[in-house]
Amino acid sequence: MKLYDPGGERGSAMSYAALLEKIEIMRSTLRWATRIERPDIEKLLRQANTLRDEVMGLSHKERFVQAIGTERRVEMPAEPVAELSTGERRQALLARSFVFEGTFGDNPKLLDALEIAEKAAPTDLPVLVDGESGTGKELMAKVIHANGSRVDKPYISVNCGAIPDNLLESELFGHKRGAFTGADKDRKGKFESAHKGTIFLDEIGELPLTGQVKLLRVLQSHEIQRVGSDETISVDARIVAATNKNLRKLIEQGTFREDLFYRLSVIHVTLPPLRERADEIPLLIAYYGDESAEALKRRPVALSPRLREFLLRYTYPGNIRELRNIMYRISCLAGETADLAHLPEDIRPATQGAAVAQEAVAASTSMAEAKRLASDEAERSCLERGLQEVGGTVAELARRWDMNRSHLQILLKKHGLHSKDFRKH
Ligand SMILES: Nc1ncnc2c1ncn2[C@@H]1O[C@H](COP(=O)(O)OP(=O)(O)O)[C@@H](O)[C@H]1O
Ligand SMILES: [Mg+2]
Repeated sequence: MKLYDPGGERGSAMSYAALLEKIEIMRSTLRWATRIERPDIEKLLRQANTLRDEVMGLSHKERFVQAIGTERRVEMPAEPVAELSTGERRQALLARSFVFEGTFGDNPKLLDALEIAEKAAPTDLPVLVDGESGTGKELMAKVIHANGSRVDKPYISVNCGAIPDNLLESELFGHKRGAFTGADKDRKGKFESAHKGTIFLDEIGELPLTGQVKLLRVLQSHEIQRVGSDETISVDARIVAATNKNLRKLIEQGTFREDLFYRLSVIHVTLPPLRERADEIPLLIAYYGDESAEALKRRPVALSPRLREFLLRYTYPGNIRELRNIMYRISCLAGETADLAHLPEDIRPATQGAAVAQEAVAASTSMAEAKRLASDEAERSCLERGLQEVGGTVAELARRWDMNRSHLQILLKKHGLHSKDFRKH
């Protein structure tokens, strides 16, 4: 048999599209070969390994830009991104009729993600979105769907973490009547429902290994079988998967299949946590303040200065979802003006230390003394919280707060705080 010969054009400038093509050629070589001799198998394996290294060698973004370059370069001016301000980048997206689906923010990392989504949307390449919970992964999947050619076809969302193991296969692929107890009629699965459209596989890291094998098979063959049926059904569903887990870690631990990871992450988008786009918190507070007021048919709630201060400094482990929920909560609970008391109890900052300090403030003899004590207390609790969040790494805290490190050290000393007491073991 004649083996595929990669030829002489190999070099650093190989595009992702060209790599994909080579892999496809190799795959069909194997598929149609009637007989393969051992040396040929070895040669193919060597070629496969080289190709794989090359794919891995290209960074996510490069891979992507090159892949799309072949299809859409005409409409995209030669990579202007680097010189544009974030506002201009957003404006440029708008000018290209990008559908934001309510996503907003001017953070460069978010704009990176949106620009990748813009280019990925018109293709059928699988996209993997990762980021902490509440960073907008599902919203990103909708953005990709909304900007693609499948926009008027179904968008089906599946939470892989919420389906019991024994129902997973039937949920994804459907079942035939009588396939198991309780299967009283034929049922379509999510993949079939998403035919011609987009399927969003949320929390893909929660998918058990058996489910992963089945999903991989669908990705390879574009065919499914309902549980209890021999009939194969072709499905054409564009896949967007999301995870808040580090899939590479799961691969190391043996709970996620590496081959599935590579299949899903042809385009990989990472969403920044809110604490890395803290400059947008005031905007989000205003936005969700208004939105919640409208939903609750009330006047937008005013924030007391200390509540505002808290909301600006809080680190939002639940990211945008948490901020949104807080704004809805205080809009619901507060009268004209909301205060710390309207915050959920588990994040309310009234610590014991603060209570003691309040007593000291009350007992102080002069106004100046009271002010100093209150301000000292605020400073100390802020430092404590900050250190907790960065696990005692002063350099990191200095970076986050945009403060001089030695100044921070002086403040820690003043309050008798030791960074090592905040290290996580
Ligand atoms: N950039 C953004 N601008 C505005 N709202 C956002 C943004 N990102 C997320 N949201 C909102 O935050 C909430 C959580 O988003 P979601 O996509 O469900 O997060 P995830 O899937 O990552 O947990 C939703 O209400 C969503 O509309
Ligand atoms: Mg989600």
